[in-house]
Amino acid sequence: MKARRALLYMPGDNWNMINKAITLHVDSICMDMEDGAALNRKAYARATIAKALQELPFGTAEKLARINAVGSGFEQDDISTVLPSHPDGIVIPKIENAGQIEWASQIIETVELANGWPVNSIRILVGVETAKGILNLKEIAAHPRLDALIFGAEDFAANIGATRSKAAWEVMYARSAVVTHAAAYDLQAIDMVFIDFRDTLNLKFEAAQGAAMGFTGKQVIHPNQVGPVQEAFTPSNDAIAYAQRVAETFEAHQAEGAGAYELDGKMIDMPILRNAHKVLERARAAGKI
Ligand code: COA
Ligand code: MG
Repeated sequence: MKARRALLYMPGDNWNMINKAITLHVDSICMDMEDGAALNRKAYARATIAKALQELPFGTAEKLARINAVGSGFEQDDISTVLPSHPDGIVIPKIENAGQIEWASQIIETVELANGWPVNSIRILVGVETAKGILNLKEIAAHPRLDALIFGAEDFAANIGATRSKAAWEVMYARSAVVTHAAAYDLQAIDMVFIDFRDTLNLKFEAAQGAAMGFTGKQVIHPNQVGPVQEAFTPSNDAIAYAQRVAETFEAHQAEGAGAYELDGKMIDMPILRNAHKVLERARAAGKI
């Protein structure tokens, strides 16, 4: 699966921002028809996204289009306008049950078959950002066309009546639930937006916290956030070197019949090795090894 360390949104009706996004070396570009697009600009956003998909050189950046929530009344026109231009994936916000993913998946499959594209080549990523979404994570995460769970903190806080804080403890349970379900179903987990986009110091703190919690990436909303976030979700050289040493020494100790041993004053056993493998897997996905 392609690494999505940073997933950059822009309003789908903003041609300049889409063009700008392409120059930023960001992993994923998500052109938005939902909350980033004003009510009277939905139709224009759809047409602009379709045009961008057809005409712009995205390079290695992933091309995503976010539709409006299933049930909003916009979703059908959103998805049918952009699909024929072959985005790499569709982002569905405010997901609350597996049926909503299946609705999109069937439409996508029809378009894939009609165009002779491989079935399942257009992926689905879902925004989990309501109490119901968190409660139904188990059925949501099991859908076979799914690549990633995206946690939306602002919507979630609004939904449960929480006040957002820098410490973010009010969303900790939900964030943790998203990471856990993603891991159980081998999905990516993409962390919340840091909306104070001129505050790079606290962005770095929150990104590092998300990475430490097990998230594989983070949503971003401004060009300045791309670099720090991609760095936070790429294992450092030190972390990679340590993981490689753990892997090598583990093998040697296993051969000698030792399941647990000491390295730099710390106990190493199977869970530490598994963690080292995760670090190496993420380093590979980021093209670092
Ligand atoms: N993607 C691509 N380019 C972006 C961008 C984004 N998300 N946000 C800003 N830019 C561009 C601006 O167009 C500007 O380009 P220019 O130098 O060619 O004029 C440059 O980056 C600097 O932008 P800046 O002036 O610092 O910010 P702004 O006031 O223009 O925009 C926001 C601030 C918050 C309105 C804007 O970042 C934004 O719309 N972000 C995405 C919001 C969104 O999609 N929300 C829904 C999903 S959560
Ligand atoms: Mg949202």
